[in-house]
Amino acid sequence: MIHGTEGGGKAEIIVALDEPSLDDARRLMDRLKGRARFYKVGLQLFTAAGPAAVEAVKAHGARVFLDLKLHDIPNTVASAVRSARGLGVDLCTIHLGGGPEMCAAAVESAGDATTILGVTVLTSSDETTLRACGVGGTVAAQVERLAVMGWQAGVRGLVASALEVQRLRGLLGPEAVLVIPGVRPAGADAGDQKRTATPAEVVRRGATHLVVGRPISRAEDPAAAYEAIGQEIAEVDNKT
Ligand code: C5P
Repeated sequence: MIHGTEGGGKAEIIVALDEPSLDDARRLMDRLKGRARFYKVGLQLFTAAGPAAVEAVKAHGARVFLDLKLHDIPNTVASAVRSARGLGVDLCTIHLGGGPEMCAAAVESAGDATTILGVTVLTSSDETTLRACGVGGTVAAQVERLAVMGWQAGVRGLVASALEVQRLRGLLGPEAVLVIPGVRPAGADAGDQKRTATPAEVVRRGATHLVVGRPISRAEDPAAAYEAIGQEIAEVDNKT
């Protein structure tokens, strides 16, 4: 089980394996060998390569964040989480919008070895999207409503945007695992990410894990890019 207070508050980098094939994913892991200790397997790679993608990460001695954003009836989500746990997955995402029963079923199935992470409102959604789905109020209010509902159902981790992390840390306390994607080192290309923050900023705001994809995978020297982000995080940790 991964806890928010693990590592004395030191944040960890999770490298997104957003690659089209297992060979491409293995190539990136080879370039980061001896450095990266945590990888995210998402819909693209899992659809292409299946459980072999998880096994390849484990063969590299690293931990796995399986980001499939499960959302189905409680029994089906519980069964999928059981399968993920069987593969040795460390972090596994569900959509909190599936409701309290689905969240509780996922947490129960995950046991101690796998930590369930809840997704609140995708950053691609705005108030217009929420209204089209019958949800009133602001995105921030909906994020908090789902976070608290998930917490009450036993979900101890969240995927959150850089803009939400500070508020969620205050709301949920030190135990929460807060995983933040979309970070960009100072001076890096933002790509299609619109509301980015630097690694140092999100760590200061309370992140426990940063998901970093293209700033590492598309760098000329991925190992150097990884080290630079690690250094930026370490400097924050040393000052706190
Ligand atoms: O390449 P980049 O660093 O933008 O990759 C970020 C990763 O985090 C991708 O796998 C993306 O799907 C994921 N993600 C995101 N923004 C969110 C949620 C997830 O970028 N709001």
